[in-house]
Parts: sequence; structure tokens; C-alpha cells
Amino acid sequence: MERVLRSGGELAGEYPLVFGPDAPGSLVTLGEDGIVHSACATLVRDLVIGGERLRIGLIGSVATDPDRRGRGLATRVLEAAERELARDGAVLALLWADDASFYRRRGWREFASELDFVFDAEVVARLPQRGTQRRAAPDDEGALHRLYSRHRSRVERTEAETRALLRSPGMETLVMHEDRDVRAYACLGRGADFAGTIHEWGGSPEDVLALVRAHFERLHGTRNELFLLAPPDAHEFAAFAKDVGARSAVGVLALAKILDPIAAAERLADWTRGEARVDIETGNEGETSVTLSSPTHSTTLRASDLLELFAPARGECARLGELERRLDVSFARLPLAPFVWGLDSI
Ligand SMILES: CC(C)(COP(=O)(O)OP(=O)(O)OC[C@H]1O[C@@H](n2cnc3c(N)ncnc32)[C@H](O)[C@@H]1OP(=O)(O)O)[C@@H](O)C(=O)NCCC(=O)NCCS
Repeated sequence: MERVLRSGGELAGEYPLVFGPDAPGSLVTLGEDGIVHSACATLVRDLVIGGERLRIGLIGSVATDPDRRGRGLATRVLEAAERELARDGAVLALLWADDASFYRRRGWREFASELDFVFDAEVVARLPQRGTQRRAAPDDEGALHRLYSRHRSRVERTEAETRALLRSPGMETLVMHEDRDVRAYACLGRGADFAGTIHEWGGSPEDVLALVRAHFERLHGTRNELFLLAPPDAHEFAAFAKDVGARSAVGVLALAKILDPIAAAERLADWTRGEARVDIETGNEGETSVTLSSPTHSTTLRASDLLELFAPARGECARLGELERRLDVSFARLPLAPFVWGLDSI
């Protein structure tokens, strides 16, 4: 995997939850005579989405030996990973890809949203200067985990997992403190990913913006702008960032695929209870059909429809709105606003 994905560099330190000691993640491999020709990493996680929880699977580091490409190996590895994650209770899977087309042809779809902010020198000059900032030390990790755990949308982590992730190579984490109290943090870069990007942070918007300024100043003009990722429901942060003139766009969170249509339909039933009825049927060929009905109308859904109802790409709710009109109901709990912070990606 390192040979393909990091030109011989070190992948293991970047993904401690897959490759580290006692890591909860696993590897799916295909090969012969003990030689791996194609592989990927998997990790089961629980998403916290406000008051909801959803078990998902993450897939990453998909790689095939250059001499063995184009023979369907990665396709088989991916299918095996999807089956294993479903068996471990994941309702859907997420992955991040530079080239989405390979995955789109295998049923993956763009899913959910994130807010992407840009801070250039002019905007940075308007950011607040407050508190005392310094690089995070091992002593801060507990405080950083507590700040992380306050986010409404996140991946559930143990403190030990946060500690391992905070030690990722190629990452600069700054904290703001007052006396001995760590009030905010911001992680910039990570291994070969997230260049110039703050992908995890915690604390009040003003404190985090002051850390954006501190990161920018520490780069001494080597970058013209910094990026920052935020959950789609970070309304307070977005209001502060807009006030100082930061540009922003709504992006896609990840590629996703329903792994267990029955479990997904059961979750849809939870989230639409009192508003619609969900009937799940399994056909002779084992295919699942999901019907959503109101007292007056009904409609049949595909697995990819479920993804769009849970959390549409870029928050575009056209399909959900159309369904609400067709059934003459309104789904108060949908769409959800799931978010995966950068440190959790594999
Ligand atoms: C992407 C990658 C994992 C595909 O591995 P693979 O074992 O060749 O995959 P498959 O044989 O199942 O499918 C390869 C696809 O590329 C096409 N292809 C054709 N010739 C090819 C070649 N010489 N090399 C690679 N792909 C080729 C195949 O037709 C197929 O396209 P399809 O989507 O239309 O079916 C592999 O190219 C790779 O390791 N790339 C570098 C690492 C990477 O980008 N990983 C993804 C990170 S998330």
C-alpha cells in the first residue's frame, strides 16, 4: 500500500486506527503466495449526528500493484470490504477519492455536505487576536478530546483514539489557552492530505478564528491562503467567518454507498415515524424494495434514494422536497447533517 500510495513513504503513522497497535481497523487483501496484489483499509465507526447515531464503515487506501491493474482486483477488494463492513453492522460506507469515476461506476454516490472556507491575507488581517497560542503538547490531548466531543456532528472516538490521531505526522496543531485552560484548538495538514487546510478544530468561533490567524502568521508568507473545513450546521462559525469577509462554499462530504438496505430502511422508518410508513420487502433474488407511504400516497425507493433522503450531496434537498410534496407530508428529522472531521478519514 505504501509503495502505491506514498512512493515508499510512511502510511502507517498517518492512519493509526488502521495500522497502529491494537487498531480497530482492518485490511482487506487479495494476492497469491503471500504476496499482496490489491488491498484496502476498513474501519467501523459510529457517527453522532445531533441526537442520532448511525453505524458506518470507512474505506481507504485502495491500491493495486501497478503490474496487476485493470484485472478487476480492486473491484473485488472493494466488494469484499463492503460485505465485511455490512457484516460488522455498518448501514452505509464512506470514502474519499481523488477520482470519483471509478467508484461512481460501482454504485457510490456523493453524500452529505461540508462548509469550505478560504482565508487570504486580507481576511486574516481582520481576524481577532486573543488569548495565548502555542503548539499543542501531549498534556493538552485530554482537553482537546473534550473540546472535540462537544461537536454535535462527529465520529464517536475514545480519548485514546483522539490521542493517537493527534500524533499524526505532518500536522501542526495550535491551541489557545488562558492560564492553564485550553479553550480552542485547530489542526492544520495531515500526512500527505489536507495541505494548507484546517480540518479539525474545537472551541468558540472567535477563538478558532484567532487560531486561523496564528496558523497563517506562523507560515510566514509561504501560503497565500488557508482553507478551513466545517460541518454543515456550523452556523455560528459561518456567521463570524462571513463577517470578516471569508469566502465560503458548500462542498460534498464524501462518496457513500448503502451497505445494508434493510438496516437503512429501518433507520428511515425511525426518522419518519409519525409522518410516513416504511414497508420493506425482500424479493426472490434477495433484492430489497422499500416503500414509503402516507395515508394518501406511496412511492418505492432505491438504495441511492435513501442516501439522498438521509443527507443529500451539498445539502440540495430537491429529492426530499419532491417526495414530501408527492406524499403530502413533511419529514421534520430529515435531512440529517452528518460530519466526519479530517482526523477520522482513512
Ligand atoms: C484505482 C486502482 C485501485 C484500481 O485498481 P485495479 O485493480 O486496476 O481496479 P479494477 O481492475 O477493478 O478496475 C480498474 C478500472 O480501470 C480501468 N483500467 C483499464 N486499464 C487499466 C490499467 N492499465 N490500469 C488501471 N486501470 C485500468 C479498468 O477498465 C477499470 O475501469 P472500470 O471502472 O470502467 O471498470 C489502481 O489503479 C490504483 O492502485 N491506483 C493508484 C492508487 C489510487 O488512486 N487509489 C485510490 C485511492 S482512494
